[in-house]
Amino acid sequence: MNYNELITAAIDAKLQSYSPYSMFAVGAALLTPGGTIYTGCNIENAAYTPTNCAERTAFFKAVSEGHREFTAIAIAGGYVDQDGESDYIYPCGVCRQVMSEFCSGDFVILSVKDEEHVQETTLKELLPHAFGMSL
Ligand code: THU
Repeated sequence: MNYNELITAAIDAKLQSYSPYSMFAVGAALLTPGGTIYTGCNIENAAYTPTNCAERTAFFKAVSEGHREFTAIAIAGGYVDQDGESDYIYPCGVCRQVMSEFCSGDFVILSVKDEEHVQETTLKELLPHAFGMSL
């Protein structure tokens, strides 16, 4: 599968990041089985704990618009070095748990350094033995 559009959407979504406290801007782009992309950015708060990660922003936008199945997410961002480059970042534990609510173990997670450098993994690899209720 070609994830180029998803990767570019995550990089673009980073531009919307509201991160004046950490200066750690993150963008995410979430793909539905039908090919719809929902983007998200991290949104911080002066009280810190209300902060929402880019991944969860994308998930909550999508779920609130009726989607409950997803195939992949691309994540881009982090601190920028002197050359203007950022490193690969991976979702935090809370975001992994939110992913496991709606996604199976083969859900693809793309860590994006830039368009040419992408690391691909799965939810099962990042969250083995996930907690879940049998609905
Ligand atoms: N953050 C994300 O948005 N996604 C991640 O995968 C890791 C962390 C945000 C939360 C906070 O606004 C900032 O990055 C620093 O933790």
